[in-house]
Amino acid sequence: MKGTIHKCLAALVKEEYGEDAWKKCLQSSGFEPERNFALTEDIEEENSINLIVESAKVLDIPLKKLFDQFGVYWCCTYAPKHYSFWYVGMKDAKAFIIKLDEIHGLVGKHFNNAKPPRFLYHWTDKNQKVLKVEYQSNRKLIDLYISLVNGLAIYFKEEIEINKISEHEVELTFDY
Ligand code: HEM
Repeated sequence: MKGTIHKCLAALVKEEYGEDAWKKCLQSSGFEPERNFALTEDIEEENSINLIVESAKVLDIPLKKLFDQFGVYWCCTYAPKHYSFWYVGMKDAKAFIIKLDEIHGLVGKHFNNAKPPRFLYHWTDKNQKVLKVEYQSNRKLIDLYISLVNGLAIYFKEEIEINKISEHEVELTFDY
């Protein structure tokens, strides 16, 4: 997985739990305590997942809570700083969510070894308030997807109802 995910996790944990806590997360998952991550570097898949899971253990919080914190931090702080161009002209969470397949498609095209998730969209009503999203990825991180949708809702100050239908499908209900 690309280092950008690890870099964001590092910034979040340092900010919320302190530098020492982050060093412990790194050590506990087999990384050097001083390890820095670059946006486009490739990190072994197994080590990436391990870092996330071990961090939750070290911080003594449920994985779901770490995903939620990551979702808010990514959408409200990290991505607006590192990927600000994608926020330009984005008027609401609905527009951003629909754009995510294109964003990740471009990531896959431009960065060697990236295997970003892809998304298929299907409106279930004519008012386009209820959206079925098919999450396509071998990583089985749909719960992280859900936390990131929550992060977007917070960024745009919206309420989005999220229903997980299966490990590869969610239904999102917007109030507009
Ligand atoms: C400007 C905003 C964004 C950019 C540039 C971006 C880019 C990326 C990149 C580079 C990865 C790592 C892919 C890899 O190494 O194979 C990734 C992973 C991921 N992204 Fe995004 N992303 C953005 C926003 C979002 C949002 C808002 C969501 C969900 C609502 C999302 C869902 C995910 C998920 C779930 C993964 C984990 C990997 C997986 O499931 O396979 N991303 N993204």
